[in-house]
Amino acid sequence: MILMARLTYSIRKATESDHDTLVKIAKTSKYTKDFSNRMMFSGPTAYEKGWIKVAVLPGGEILGFSCVRHKVRAPETMLYFITITPERRSEFIGQRLLEEVMKDSPHKTMSLNVMKDNRAVSFYKRLGFRIVSDAMQGQAHRMSKEYDFQHTDKDADW
Ligand SMILES: CC(C)(COP(=O)(O)OP(=O)(O)OC[C@H]1O[C@@H](n2cnc3c(N)ncnc32)[C@H](O)[C@@H]1OP(=O)(O)O)[C@@H](O)C(=O)NCCC(=O)NCCS
Repeated sequence: MILMARLTYSIRKATESDHDTLVKIAKTSKYTKDFSNRMMFSGPTAYEKGWIKVAVLPGGEILGFSCVRHKVRAPETMLYFITITPERRSEFIGQRLLEEVMKDSPHKTMSLNVMKDNRAVSFYKRLGFRIVSDAMQGQAHRMSKEYDFQHTDKDADW
């Protein structure tokens, strides 16, 4: 039997100096390649407000990121992008990242659009998201999850 060493990483707020690396990671998936749009999703405000978070190894290597927006007019957080570097997918890093974003959120609902043909639909279902409607002219699901995390140690390593 081969025992895999437990991967140790932490989650932190991204900074603008991470941007080029995040664009590269986003471009590894056709579903997240549009992250490079600095006006809507990844402008300075998104970094300043902590809407973009990264999972990083102790040496600083970035394993993946998520990008959200905490809405003001409606009590929900929109998840716009989440991408884990291809070599590190299916190691629960995406799950940890989302849990951390939820813990940090001022709201108790997270919503997202996911293309119906994306394998990530099962990822979201496993995390408790449910399909609430069609989106993007029927090509995507709008999924939503309500949560009530207790705020715990935000800098914990896994
Ligand atoms: C979706 C994603 C963020 C999940 O992160 P992760 O760390 O791999 O997730 P976990 O280890 O917690 O869960 C594994 C699940 O992620 C999903 N997943 C794994 N590889 C994937 C891939 N290449 N594309 C889409 N989803 C994938 C699957 O649902 C997988 O479960 P399964 O093995 O039972 O099918 C990550 O796989 C990824 O970056 N995918 C490509 C980008 C993407 O599609 N983002 C979502 C846009 S809405």
